Amino acid sequence: MNIVNIIEKKRDKKELTKEEIEYFISEYSSGNIPDYQAAALIMAIYLNGMNRRETADLTMAMANSGEILDLSDVSDLIIDKHSTGGVGDKITIILMPIIAALGIPVAKMSGRGLGFTGGTADKLESIPGYNVDLSIDEFKQNVKDIGISLITSSLNLAPADKKIYALRDTIGCVSSIPLIASSIMSKKIASGSNKIVIDLTCGSGAFMKNIVKAAILARTMVGIGKSVGREVRCVLTNMDEPVGYSVGNQLEIIEAVKALKGDMAKDVEEITYSLAIQIILMSGKAKDEQSAHEMVKDVIESGKALDKFRELVKKQGGDISYIDDLSKFEEPKYIVPVFPKRGGNIVKIKTEKIGRASVLLGAGRNNKDEKIDFQAGIIINKKINDIVKKDIPIAYIYTNRENSIDEAIKEIQDSYVILNIKRIKRRTVLQIIN
Ligand code: URA
Repeated sequence: MNIVNIIEKKRDKKELTKEEIEYFISEYSSGNIPDYQAAALIMAIYLNGMNRRETADLTMAMANSGEILDLSDVSDLIIDKHSTGGVGDKITIILMPIIAALGIPVAKMSGRGLGFTGGTADKLESIPGYNVDLSIDEFKQNVKDIGISLITSSLNLAPADKKIYALRDTIGCVSSIPLIASSIMSKKIASGSNKIVIDLTCGSGAFMKNIVKAAILARTMVGIGKSVGREVRCVLTNMDEPVGYSVGNQLEIIEAVKALKGDMAKDVEEITYSLAIQIILMSGKAKDEQSAHEMVKDVIESGKALDKFRELVKKQGGDISYIDDLSKFEEPKYIVPVFPKRGGNIVKIKTEKIGRASVLLGAGRNNKDEKIDFQAGIIINKKINDIVKKDIPIAYIYTNRENSIDEAIKEIQDSYVILNIKRIKRRTVLQIIN
């Protein structure tokens, strides 16, 4: 096989065979194909696309390029939840204990934050003592013992995807549906799941800004799932504003615990219920949405979901006294109100800017080695369609970095578009595709 012939085929809009795709992935991973030829092929795929069979073959080739976690000794049913990311997205921390409290096993690996989006692993680490770096044996044992474990991955999952993603970033080829779909799905398949629910975020705080493209991406991922024997359901959710009312690690844990106690922001509630319902239906534990909804309500109201979270925190070395008494979380040195530039109605929030402000304050990282300040973040006081006056804060900054305050205030003020008109607010859950 010859990489030049493969590039020429895709350049001329022809279909690649499974063997050609596997050849490219294995030879590129092992360094036998240089970046310039890989870049040419990726650009040809970007311009000419891939059909469903090719996309599924690319997914499996990337999934098979590294370790594949085998969780079959834990359960036949391994459901994973993935979010395409956003600002203030603490849904995993609320959703997964709910699912585990219903007796559905949860073995979930989560990433760390980078750039304007946060990561579940960092958020969990803001609970003193919580260890996200368990060995795979400990991870599996915890799922067997208490039905849930949330860790970060120490495995070399889908390394070909990492290499191709980095290359795409440098050649303007990130926003291609087959490339995004295969990238996400390869990692989910490598992490051992057989049923996958994807929270596909869409809007100013997500990498998919456009709902039509997001729906095509969702259908592509569902199609890959069908081709490779995994059930995939996508919930398209609105990321036109931060999720809930907090952005930043410890602040989001506090909001998540309050949510598990039944005190949920409306958008958090809608997203959590919607994803939980899809997971319950996939697990076969309920026949219809109504009964799945009742099951979720019951585990929250009975306190079973919160108990499961406490059990998880304890099992992974965390200090549960912080969960029982949220005031134990120490506040940072500076808590500063942010006032709007003008009064009126909030018609838009440039959510990515809010994420960037949280990074300035210390809550996130610009590169993967940067240290995070768990106490830093933003409390959102006003959201879309709230009416504001100049003397009422739109947000509060939490930080230990005095010299970042002015810049963060400006970034937050600039992210709020305030006019004298009301806008029609999009629903939180936009569409379910399966
Ligand atoms: N997220 C991924 O994991 N891959 C992409 O290509 C885009 C977003």
